[in-house]
Amino acid sequence: MEQDKIIVLDFGSQTNRLIARRIRQMRVFSELYPHTITKADILKLSHVKGIILSGGPGSVYDEKALRIDPEIFTLDIPILGICYGMQLLVQHHGGTIEKTEKREYGSATIQVLKSGTLFSGLNTEEKVWMSHGDHVIKIPDGFNINASSDACPISGFENDDKKLYGVQFHPEVEHTEKGETLLANFVFDIAKAKADWTMANIIDEQVALIKDVVKDKHVILGLSGGVDSSVTAALIDQAIGKQLTCIFVDHGLLRLGESAQVMDTFAHHMKLNIKRIDAKTRFLKALKGVSDPEQKRKIIGHTFIKVFDEAAKDIDADFLAQGTLYTDTIESGSATAETIKSHHNVGGLPAKMKLTLIEPLNKLFKDEVRLLGTSLGLSDELVHRQPFPGPGLAIRIIGAVTADKLDLVKKSDHILHEVFAKHGLNKTVWQYFTVLTPIKTVGVMGDKRTYEHVLVVRAVTSKDGMTADWARIPHEALETLSNRIIGEISGINRVVYDITSKPPGTIEWE
Ligand code: XMP
Repeated sequence: MEQDKIIVLDFGSQTNRLIARRIRQMRVFSELYPHTITKADILKLSHVKGIILSGGPGSVYDEKALRIDPEIFTLDIPILGICYGMQLLVQHHGGTIEKTEKREYGSATIQVLKSGTLFSGLNTEEKVWMSHGDHVIKIPDGFNINASSDACPISGFENDDKKLYGVQFHPEVEHTEKGETLLANFVFDIAKAKADWTMANIIDEQVALIKDVVKDKHVILGLSGGVDSSVTAALIDQAIGKQLTCIFVDHGLLRLGESAQVMDTFAHHMKLNIKRIDAKTRFLKALKGVSDPEQKRKIIGHTFIKVFDEAAKDIDADFLAQGTLYTDTIESGSATAETIKSHHNVGGLPAKMKLTLIEPLNKLFKDEVRLLGTSLGLSDELVHRQPFPGPGLAIRIIGAVTADKLDLVKKSDHILHEVFAKHGLNKTVWQYFTVLTPIKTVGVMGDKRTYEHVLVVRAVTSKDGMTADWARIPHEALETLSNRIIGEISGINRVVYDITSKPPGTIEWE
């Protein structure tokens, strides 16, 4: 079933992804497209009910200003311009924009002069979020000014006949208090989109699509136990069952009991076709004596691909499934937003792999993947798992990795998880783990001198891992942690708490 969609044309604003997210939260499918999309491209997409022109850092008068295919304005699809998008819309319809050097940035108050359709349900005064330099000083003929502020007399307008709307402020940002109402007015009252983008529909649509593409062929998938690969496996399993083989490369760098948990969920409980490769010794051997963090990462990456390749050779597969998310795709390839990082899941495949990629999550944000996982029957524990680095515990052992050191990190991490759960901290702290340092210090235990490792406890609050703050942990929890770790694990005689935020630190130590 094709769903109604609202497309967002990307003119480079940092918040343009948020526009799509807000609309999806209203259960209407929304997707970002490069600003270079043409009228013909849009006509090929079915069920486009509305178009949003995003904000952007440029000025419409810049020589290199990002343009829009003017033919898009003849599509007879409602258009909402936000910030730069609004100015572009005005420019195309004969209005005037004043170029300024001064930026208006932050919270502002607008007066709603006329509620019309877009501003329906808003009060006469509203708090909004502004971020712009230029502003509109004359709107095109036939347009109504609906909102104004002291610094920006034309903050919002509409032309109901032509179905063209614009706001200078950012309705997608939380600080715009009625932003959601305004977007909902556009999506439902103006664009007349149906709220039919539900998890059940996504599952039905993806299952049908996978069946159609795969037919009677075979798919392989690298299962890591993380949220993304687990949800991908569950979804593909629903579509083609035994035609999917999951390869679980157990590199021995997972948390205590995690490998058994993966097998328990997928092999025993869900009865998936899963091949577990015990490669612990191989990884330890490859990592022997290596202390440099980047070197460790490279070795783990290469060894992983080799082991996976060897295991995949015996399987006559035509497709490779990956849990690539929407954010991975836009971070790696959006034409307009600055490239933030090139992600390992995209474009990092060995060239000799002659497999066609299947990425059923590549339109979904992380929180949507979690909802999908729950709808597919995966446990809360799995679906709400905290982020875990690909190189696993190897980057939580400072210096060379050995079996003994791995044992110390696994056991201490396990105690940390138990203590955090007991104090309810697992609900509020974003990520927490232990780091084993090569430093040894002197201690005393039962009248005996000890000389053992210093262990670091790291716990951070964050939204997305890009920035983070160290978590304020109650002293009682820290006390229990220290007592339990030193009392129960031989080899550690000192526990310290990391009070560095990101930036300037990173979350992981390596
Ligand atoms: P940093 O240490 O860069 O971590 O502040 C930010 C988030 O990313 C995770 N992380 C990784 N994830 N491969 C991954 O898949 C890696 O090499 C890697 N390094 C860090 C980290 O756990 C945190 O959530």
